[in-house]
Amino acid sequence: MNDRQKVKRIVIIGFMGAGKTTVGEEVARRLGFSFFDLDKEIVAQSCFESVREIFDVCGEPFFRTREAEVFSALLRHEGVVVATGGGIVSNDLAKRDLESSGQRGEVVFLKARFDTLVGRVGGDPGRPLFQDVERAKILFDSRQKNYSKYASFTVEVDSKSLEKIIEIIASLRETNSIVK
Ligand code: S3P
Repeated sequence: MNDRQKVKRIVIIGFMGAGKTTVGEEVARRLGFSFFDLDKEIVAQSCFESVREIFDVCGEPFFRTREAEVFSALLRHEGVVVATGGGIVSNDLAKRDLESSGQRGEVVFLKARFDTLVGRVGGDPGRPLFQDVERAKILFDSRQKNYSKYASFTVEVDSKSLEKIIEIIASLRETNSIVK
């Protein structure tokens, strides 16, 4: 017999600047869940100071390997909100975990227009893949399909207040249940 349970894990996906960390942190606080920022965890478990440094010294493939490993480890917890990095959906090593996250909890896509994101984080030195706007746009376009593919729930963020976005996501725990 299936055992229906309330959502125990919320994974937040979306492009750089969509608000994954800000939103995730507050959703976790309201639900009494623990919050993990995947990028921060990767850095904390490395001997480097920032994502930028990992990219510069070890290269992107190394970062992607760590991203998948740390993500997988975080998903072993229950009662968590995990804010991912914008590239998780194109990380082949994280594919299986993303798929199973959608089955065992919610994968929430914060969907934003590209111009909104440019205004927020374009050129941010801490984001190596958002230095050049044209290249970032190509990346943005190439990832949209995958965000939608892995998402169990999508919130369009451009014209919503932060409070509204947080409220919508926090309410998923009450309104949705998953089959374990
Ligand atoms: C990346 C997004 C970043 C970080 C890294 C790569 C990407 O996270 O993981 O710079 O490929 O989109 P944020 O989405 O939190 O900026």
